[in-house]
This record gives sequence, structure tokens and C-alpha cells, in this order.
Amino acid sequence: MLHLAWIAALFLLSCGSVTEPSEPAAVCTPACGGSVCGDDGCGGSCGTCDEGLRCEAGACVPDGCTPACSGRACGDDGCGGSCGTCDEGLRCDAAGACVPGACVPDCGSRVCGDDGCGGSCGSCSGEDTCEDGACVCAPDCTGRVCGDDGCGGSCGTCEGGLVCNTREGACSDTCSADCAGRVCGDDGCGGSCGSCAGGDSCDGAGQCVCTPSCEGRTCGDDGCGGSCGSCDAGQACGDAGRCAWPERTLSGHVMPIFEAKCTSCHAGNRASADLDLSSASLAWAGLVNTPASCGSRMLVEPGLPEESYLVAKVTGVGMCSGAKMPGGSVPDLTSGEIATLRAWIGRGALAD
Ligand code: HEC
Repeated sequence: MLHLAWIAALFLLSCGSVTEPSEPAAVCTPACGGSVCGDDGCGGSCGTCDEGLRCEAGACVPDGCTPACSGRACGDDGCGGSCGTCDEGLRCDAAGACVPGACVPDCGSRVCGDDGCGGSCGSCSGEDTCEDGACVCAPDCTGRVCGDDGCGGSCGTCEGGLVCNTREGACSDTCSADCAGRVCGDDGCGGSCGSCAGGDSCDGAGQCVCTPSCEGRTCGDDGCGGSCGSCDAGQACGDAGRCAWPERTLSGHVMPIFEAKCTSCHAGNRASADLDLSSASLAWAGLVNTPASCGSRMLVEPGLPEESYLVAKVTGVGMCSGAKMPGGSVPDLTSGEIATLRAWIGRGALAD
């Protein structure tokens, strides 16, 4: 046994110092890459899966679920995993391909800062600063050697029997409290002139003022009569202060519009532009992720109304050929009907 161990050690040592490029590498390097389970290529393992999961192409997937990534470079694998992620500037379309296109904002649990697309997830109130999507109090001790740092901490303490003039943040022999003209805040000696009600905060002059709060909000009231921002056309501002599309479905809201104003031309085997809008399933198949007859856009790009050529055709803005729909003697869509199409697409252009 000892013998074998020695041979193995010698073998490893000599391999480690081999410089001849022609010599094949005798030591196997485990390669797990992004794999969390399965073979590491050297007879070892990259990890094991929890109960109820099995290993499939280096990922733990629910038992009984077969990931469907054939032909897909990104997006959901149907088993809770991913088929891959797209490089920056690209997004994953419904067919699982990375395509150039409009950015889809994603704030997740972020309440402030960038939404990934140049927009905002909300802003911080007062002096707070945004760090990693969270509003944090920024201590400020500029020019102060003692007293409050603005965040409940301290800028330092006074020594040698000196007291802190807390408003100035300076140490001196004496301190006289002064609340003249002040209803709140520091009395100058570490005491208080009063506190503010509700969401009001105390300003530097000792007055209670309304503090706008737009944390996690991108639209709607800021709590002080101002606004946290406005929404895209057709969107409504939800209770949580986020822009949201009103609930609009294909069969419930969109089909009645198609039936009233489109199917006189877009139905049956002689449908104009080969686009049959006479049933929800035909309309969905003919529109969603179907390239327009000109340009490089889809008739309907789920989630992206302004990218969708259908919207260009009914507004007459951004068309690459033909006429504004519906045309003929059929009256134009109302702004409400156009908003309905936008909302259906904005909510993901679902088939129901
Ligand atoms: C009077 C007949 C008529 C009506 C009504 C009509 N269309 Fe069209 N539609 C056409 C014709 C013809 C074309 C092809 C020429 C063009 O693009 O203008 C077309 C093209 C289109 C295209 C472009 C397809 C492509 O790939 O370029 C879309 C989208 C479209 N119609 C949607 C609608 C919608 C939505 C309605 C109802 C709001 C509607 N149409 C009503 C006749 C009609």
C-alpha cells in the first residue's frame, strides 16, 4: 500500500515538472464550468442534486421534467431552469433567441437607481443616497467634530470638559439651548425643540416640512402633492407607484375590436396581407412573433407595444409600407381601442 502511494506521489511530482509540450497532460483538470452537478470530466463530481431533483446537463432540474432547450439560446427551459442568458444589448425573445431590441426594465426589489434600461426604479427622499438599489442614509460630518451625523450616529465627542454645540457640531466651554423660531429639531445642546407629525421631517431651520417619498415608486403622488413620474401611453399608475398595463385580454378585449373593424378584410383564405384576424387563435398565430411584411419588426412583440408593427399600422406612425389601418370605409380605431391593443401587447400578448 505504502509502495503504491509512493509511486502515485512520484508520478504527480514528475507530471508537475514536465515541460515537454509533446507530453500529454497526465493530470486531469476537473471542468465544472457552470455545472452544479454531474461528471467533472475526471471521474469526479461537480455536485449532487437535492431530493426530488435530478442532474440534467450540469443543472439540477425537477424529477420528471425534461428541459426543452433545443433551438433555444436563452430563456426558460420549462423546468424552472434557464437555456442561457443573452449578452448585453440583447434580449431574449419568446422563441428563446437573443435578439437586439428594446430593453425591458427590471427593478426586482430595487427601490431606487437604474432600472437596467436607463430609467429609474425610484428616488430616495431627503439626503438619502441610493446604494445597490436601496436608499441609505448618508452620514455627513463635514465641518463637524461632535454631535449628530444626520443618520443617528455621532461625529465625535468633546474632550477636556468641553460641551458640544450640537447644531454647529463644534466643541466649546458652554452651550445654551435655543429654540427661538424653531418647532422641531436640535436645541443646540443635544436636546430637542419638538418633533414633527406624520411623514414630515425637520429641516435645517427647525421647521416641519413634507418630505416627498418616491422610494420604489416611478409614478403617482410623492406624498407632498408632487409627482414621482409619469407612465407610458396607455399605462396606468398602480397603487404601488409602478406603471402597469391595465388588464386586457385577446379574447375579452382585443377580438371585439378586430371583429368590428378588421375582419371585413382580414378573414378567410383571401385575407388581406395573409393576416386572418377572425378568431383569437388565428389572430394570435398571425400576429405574435410574426415578422411584418416589411422592415425588421414583428407584428406583435410581446411586452413591447412600441416595437410592434401592429401598433404602427393602427396609429399610422412608423409604417414601412401600405396604409394606416383599418382603411377603406371603416372608421379609425379610437384612442381607447389603440390603448387596448397596447395594453394587451404590454402585458405579454397572451393567447387567452
Ligand atoms: C378595407 C380593408 C381592410 C381593413 C378594414 C383592415 N385592413 Fe389591414 N390591411 C389591408 C390591406 C389591403 C393590407 C396590405 C396593404 C397595407 O399594408 O396597407 C393590410 C395590412 C395590414 C397589416 C400589415 C401586415 C404586414 O405584415 O405588413 C396589419 C398589421 C393590418 N393590416 C392590421 C389591420 C387591423 C388591426 C385592422 C383593424 C383595425 C385592419 N388591418 C383593417 C386591408 C384592410
